Amino acid sequence: MGCKKIIFFVICFIVVNTVFGDVSYSVLEELKRGSVVGNLAKDIGLDAKTLLSRKGRLNADDGNERYFEIDRNAGTLIVGDIIDREEICGSKPSCSLKTQLVLEKPLEIRSISVQIQDINDNAPQFPTDQINLEIRESAIKGTLFLLSEAHDADVLQNTVQGYSLEKNDHFTLQIRTNSDGMKYSELVLEKELDREQQQKHYLLLTAYDNGAPQKSGTVLIHINVLDANDNVPVFSQPMYKAELLENCPLDTVVVTVSATDADEGVNGEVTYELSRVPDKVARLFSLDKISGEIKTIGPIDFESESVYEMRVQAKDGLGLASNVKVIIDILDANDNAPTIVVQSLNEAVAENSPAGTEVGIINVQDKDSHGKQQVLCSIQGNVPFKLNPSIKNYYSIVTTGQLDREIVADYNITITAVDDGTPPLSSSKTIHLSVSDVNDNPPVFEEQSYSAYVSENNKPGSSVCSVTARDPDWRQNGTVFYSLLPSEVNGVPLSSYLSINGDTGVIHAVRAFDYEQFRSFKVQVVARDNGSPPLSSNVTVSVFITDENDNSPQILYPTPEGNSFMTEMVPKAALSGSLLSKVIAVDADSGQNAWLSYQIVKSTDPGLFTIGVHSGEIRAQRDISDSDSMKQNLVISVKDNGQPSLSTTCAVYLLISDNLAEVPELKDMSYEENNSKLTSYLIIALVSVSTFFLTFIILIIAVRLCHRRKPRLLFDGAVAIPSAYLPPNYADVDGTGTLRSTYNYDAYMTTGSRTSDFKFVTSYNDNTLPSGATLKRSPGDNSECLNFTSLDFTENASKCSTLVNKYLFYTLCCKQPNTNLCPLHF
Ligand SMILES: *[C@@H]1O[C@H](CO)[C@@H](O)[C@H](O)[C@H]1NC(C)=O
Ligand SMILES: *[C@@H]1O[C@H](CO)[C@@H](O)[C@H](O)[C@H]1NC(C)=O
Ligand SMILES: *[C@@H]1O[C@H](CO)[C@@H](O)[C@H](O)[C@H]1NC(C)=O
Repeated sequence: MGCKKIIFFVICFIVVNTVFGDVSYSVLEELKRGSVVGNLAKDIGLDAKTLLSRKGRLNADDGNERYFEIDRNAGTLIVGDIIDREEICGSKPSCSLKTQLVLEKPLEIRSISVQIQDINDNAPQFPTDQINLEIRESAIKGTLFLLSEAHDADVLQNTVQGYSLEKNDHFTLQIRTNSDGMKYSELVLEKELDREQQQKHYLLLTAYDNGAPQKSGTVLIHINVLDANDNVPVFSQPMYKAELLENCPLDTVVVTVSATDADEGVNGEVTYELSRVPDKVARLFSLDKISGEIKTIGPIDFESESVYEMRVQAKDGLGLASNVKVIIDILDANDNAPTIVVQSLNEAVAENSPAGTEVGIINVQDKDSHGKQQVLCSIQGNVPFKLNPSIKNYYSIVTTGQLDREIVADYNITITAVDDGTPPLSSSKTIHLSVSDVNDNPPVFEEQSYSAYVSENNKPGSSVCSVTARDPDWRQNGTVFYSLLPSEVNGVPLSSYLSINGDTGVIHAVRAFDYEQFRSFKVQVVARDNGSPPLSSNVTVSVFITDENDNSPQILYPTPEGNSFMTEMVPKAALSGSLLSKVIAVDADSGQNAWLSYQIVKSTDPGLFTIGVHSGEIRAQRDISDSDSMKQNLVISVKDNGQPSLSTTCAVYLLISDNLAEVPELKDMSYEENNSKLTSYLIIALVSVSTFFLTFIILIIAVRLCHRRKPRLLFDGAVAIPSAYLPPNYADVDGTGTLRSTYNYDAYMTTGSRTSDFKFVTSYNDNTLPSGATLKRSPGDNSECLNFTSLDFTENASKCSTLVNKYLFYTLCCKQPNTNLCPLHF
């Protein structure tokens, strides 16, 4: 460079020298003061002394005289002040300064022109420190961006000749020339920008000249990449999975989705929404638009849905969107109790069903875990039923034992089902089952046997007693009807004695009973239910007829009617207390009603005779003396002990005499001889019959002791009964055949009168009766006596309170169907 300058300098110098008249020089700018521009004295043809002497001086019109001075000693033009070409000429390509040399003596003016040569003393310079560019990232390749020009005050080669750009990935530089020849540059986008990758770019732009030395200036290009919505939101996960326990509270955050958008501002603002979700899901889950939280807003039930799938869309402000799948698995909680469903149930089970009879079917379900849970089923309480597991959650309810409707008529069967969750849930169901009736119980009488006591002379139709039987069965199977078992009493159909109300069991008398006719009988009452087949049972009712005092005492001796002449002989020597006679009376009643007492109500000589109150024995009260009247009459009253008591009277004629012949007045007593004769015969007959009978009895007792099994054969004998006292129905003994060998015969006996109506009846054989119970139509049903036949009569004899002679009692009372004569008083 230095070489170039020197050459340049020499050339200029030569050119100036050749110009005649005016002197021109060329000088570089920026020389030091005093630097020689040219040898002025020589160039004008003077020497230095002359120049000095002619007072040569410089004069500039334009005020530029200060740049040059004249060295007076050497006669050279030197630089007076530093010359800045850029200041004087700006950007003009050629620059010269003009001045005039003024000489005196003579005045002479020579013009001097000094061409100022440029040196590269200025570097290119940009107008600003930094160029700021904003480029949208969406700008396409090839886009140009004008850059501001650099400036260089120098000219020609020394001014801006070019630009260079720092090497980078995105931009290149294109250099252009203005119409005025100035160079400027444009930035060319070679590769698209991505704000998201790099938002700011800094590039150094250099402008340079071609001077020597070369100078350059730089500027920093600051490129701010503006955002374009070129990014979709991106979810943090390719898919979201969450697990959620069912029955969780509302507002439980299930999962939070999050998406980011690389764009900025509105382009990067992400909002979320559920896309394409069924209503069902929309009712259960909500998505926060901003935070991306998915929360529950409805009840979550595993049993209705175990997994939910939804798509969430994330959208940025300008509408770029992306989707993600969210899967929510619902976890099961044991929140469902098992349910028991009765599939079928018999309304009732018959009580005679065998164990194991199926009465119903149930089905047990548990919705949890889709029914895969284990459920335990059982029957509560002590009931005779159990569950038999059958296929797949089905159970049959079967009986475990015999049922009895009469004990438990219906059951509440409580079935409990428990699942195996933690905690376990259970449920129970009660089913009602009734036991249907089977006619398995016969009616049962409340008592083993019944006794009825009826007083005789009862009103027909009056109730005798009432029987009750119970049947615990149901309805008609337990409805009891009563009936009498047909039988006969003394040969008469039972129905003519008794009837029964079939519904109430009340037994009525059909007719009036007579104690004197029979004292008791037995009937069988049957209770039958209405089932089919019916069941029945029977009971024995013993009817006892109780006595009433309806018979007055009957005088057997002395004969009351028309026999006023019957006279007792009393020895004259009879002493006090000696038995003189006896009044014999009987009463058909029994007990107190037949308890007779004797009383003398009237006598010829009161004080002479006394009568035993109960024995009827007439005794002398004192010794009989001759002074006593021969004929003594007594009126005796016989009274029973009934309430009210009944009585009868009789007269006794006593003749105090030792010899019948002494009694002339006897005829007055209209005593008939043949009567007396007959009486004698009868007495003889009575005595002989009695003797025979006693012998017979003894014989029979002996036989009986040997043959106890045939007791009824024992006492066949004659009994004397006045036929007048026979009850009215005595003649009812008819030919029904039940008294197969009944026969009666009468024997008459009297103390003397033909009119005596003692009737000795050898009655039917006892062994013609099958048993006491079947003694039908027997007019004298005297149980006391019948028993007597089969039992030890000594016991029974005591019942006849005034019995003197047991055997005679039996003969009179028991062997005779008509027992009016019993008890007998002697
Ligand atoms: C069964 O349940 C019903 C109704 O709760 C009740 O009336 C009845 O008495 C119960 N039966 C038994 C045998 O417990
Ligand atoms: C009575 O018992 C019979 C079986 O013995 C039965 O079939 C019938 O249903 C029962 N009647 C009632 C009313 O329960
Ligand atoms: C009466 O009952 C007994 C047993 O209780 C029975 O043996 C008898 O046959 C029954 N009689 C009638 C007529 O039903």
